[in-house]
Amino acid sequence: MPEQEGVNLRALSDLCTPWCVRVAATLRIADHIAAGIAEIDDLAAAAGCDSDSLRRVLGHLVGKGVFQETAPGRFALNEAAQGLLDPSQRLDLDLEGIGGRFAYAWGSLLTYVRTGAPAYHELFGLPFWEDLDAQPEIAASFDALIGPAGHGIPDPEFQISGGWESVRTVVDVGGGTGAMLAEILRARPKIHGTLVDLPRTVARSGETFRAAGVAEWVTTVGQSFFDPLPAGADLYLLRGVLNDWPDREATAILSRCAEAARPTGRVVVLKGVAPDDAPRSLSIETVLLGGKHRTVAEFRELAREAGLEVSAAERQPSGYFVVECRPT
Ligand SMILES: C[S@@+](CC[C@H](N)C(=O)[O-])C[C@H]1O[C@@H](n2cnc3c(N)ncnc32)[C@H](O)[C@@H]1O
Repeated sequence: MPEQEGVNLRALSDLCTPWCVRVAATLRIADHIAAGIAEIDDLAAAAGCDSDSLRRVLGHLVGKGVFQETAPGRFALNEAAQGLLDPSQRLDLDLEGIGGRFAYAWGSLLTYVRTGAPAYHELFGLPFWEDLDAQPEIAASFDALIGPAGHGIPDPEFQISGGWESVRTVVDVGGGTGAMLAEILRARPKIHGTLVDLPRTVARSGETFRAAGVAEWVTTVGQSFFDPLPAGADLYLLRGVLNDWPDREATAILSRCAEAARPTGRVVVLKGVAPDDAPRSLSIETVLLGGKHRTVAEFRELAREAGLEVSAAERQPSGYFVVECRPT
């Protein structure tokens, strides 16, 4: 078949540019230029790298529209390069932090496709979460990327059947450093929130809750969500969590939520479930963890095994596809 018009396979499969962007971000080249350093030898000295190699990287990027070469060997920021000054971009791109784990993990895609199982451990010696346990700085950069510094302040606007009026307690299961829970509590005073995540992650949540002015309405619990969860809350939120896990583990997390929510609570899933006619997608959590985004039909099956019945599933004006479940 001829290439579809407008689709350039060479450009699509180029690896040079993505790596050059990441190397420039890791070496903080944009910051050095913003600080007034322009000559390639001075930039290389400031970044602690080889001048000729850096010049080739920057030359390539200039050809792609990132940075300007204002005179031979003199570089300046343009609009695209200014993006590298953004701390959230840096969290994503820094090869020495979680950005490096994400970038290299794509190298395991062929094994993932051949076997259907993640091969992250072949690159880093341990499966993803265990690797983070063993590498505190990488784990910290992962938490930062997931939190407000990386992914920004999450939107707490989603509707639930019957409205929020009857909800007094929310448990955010795998809620990271608390950004979403903080926004929910800020938007809906009177609710008490419980943040459940790994101990190292909840330990980083204090500033988020203080900054949102909701610290006194929050309890934090550092534990695994594969262990029994705080029981009896009105709403258990799973946002961007189930898509990190294969079916067996996703079902186990749902089971813990069902047990804790029984008899009158509900489980709400945001992100990770899509309408039945949505195209199959591939995302970083697939290569990292064998996680996947699921259709409603696939999710319904896992929920049923976990003792939950899907009571609502719809795209809302906020853009969230919201799935609600009740314990059976
Ligand atoms: C993709 S993040 C989602 C965070 C947050 N819900 C959000 O929407 O931004 C997945 C979260 O699961 C947490 N996690 C991973 N394994 C866990 C476990 N066994 N028990 C509790 N939390 C876990 C991670 O620390 C991380 O915060």
